[in-house]
Amino acid sequence: MRILITGGAGCLGSNLIEHWLPKGHEILAIDNFATGKREVVPPVKGLTLVEGSIADRDLVARAFAEFKPTYVVHSAASYKDPANWQEDASTNVSGTINVVDAAREHKVLRILNFQTVLCYGRPDAVPIPVDQPLRPFTSYGISKVAGEQYLSMSGLPFASLRLANVCGPRLAIGPIPTFYKRLKAGQACFCTDAQRDFLDMSDFLAAVDLVMADNAPSGIFNVSSGEGRTIKDVYDAVRAHLQLPSDPGVKVVPVGDDDVPAVVPDPSATTKTLGWTAKVPFAETMTRMLSWYDRHGVSDVYSHLSAKH
Ligand SMILES: NC(=O)c1ccc[n+]([C@@H]2O[C@H](COP(=O)([O-])OP(=O)(O)OC[C@H]3O[C@@H](n4cnc5c(N)ncnc54)[C@H](O)[C@@H]3O)[C@@H](O)[C@H]2O)c1
Repeated sequence: MRILITGGAGCLGSNLIEHWLPKGHEILAIDNFATGKREVVPPVKGLTLVEGSIADRDLVARAFAEFKPTYVVHSAASYKDPANWQEDASTNVSGTINVVDAAREHKVLRILNFQTVLCYGRPDAVPIPVDQPLRPFTSYGISKVAGEQYLSMSGLPFASLRLANVCGPRLAIGPIPTFYKRLKAGQACFCTDAQRDFLDMSDFLAAVDLVMADNAPSGIFNVSSGEGRTIKDVYDAVRAHLQLPSDPGVKVVPVGDDDVPAVVPDPSATTKTLGWTAKVPFAETMTRMLSWYDRHGVSDVYSHLSAKH
């Protein structure tokens, strides 16, 4: 396959590159390093890097014309400053349109998109069925919904995977790296009573392989464990991993106005259509993630949320 990956220097993009390069696929990554890291797209055989923004329509058109991809993985997204609506709209809406238009022009065989579960906003039901109404209320969620909807009406064969927290090398967002970094530095932490879904990278990669296969169905899929874990569960697991005594008195605050009490997507429709289910249990997912931080450390940590507690 000739795979063009937007956001190739990010967490998911770089894991996909490591997954596919050894299999002999040719890859071109486009990234502006807003949250990605240059060192994870090294100059190695089979991998080309285009530095720049997908919001630059000419740059995207040139990359497609020169590389001639057969598959596109759209993994670039803007989220790091929740107040910067302009950047979110520029990358997640205009950038997505540029990628979709170029993919149509070059008649790619399939485009794979990743969606945030913040697309559901505050859901009516938990676990959240994939056909729940979309009520995003953050700049990231709103702009990502628009991008997914443009893709859905493009006429291209596509899959959009709605992801919760995929845990694996280079994860730099959410409670796991936050607690790891703060506890290692001896800093105080607080928890919320929110529930989240955590998925191991190997389960994510297995789902990607299924939707990239010849004759895979087009559509939107919740790719999640379907099991809610509290932020306190994560805190306890990080403390245990760092061999710190348990902390039953840690402050647990109610979820903030910009947060959602429970984000646990229901993967049952995905299981029915693709035969996919998450295999790695939460405890093992945490052990793998935390052992990776032991070896590599935690770099910058980002958040999709704006409220400070
Ligand atoms: N990792 C998860 O658990 C998760 C959960 C839900 C949704 N997603 C979605 O998956 C995708 C990848 O997320 P990630 O976790 O790897 O995040 P990430 O921040 O590690 O990767 C995103 C990449 O996009 C790049 N980027 C941002 N704006 C760009 C632009 N205008 N042009 C080119 N590159 C740009 C960043 O530099 C970064 O390398 C995103 O679409 C995100 O919305 C991820």
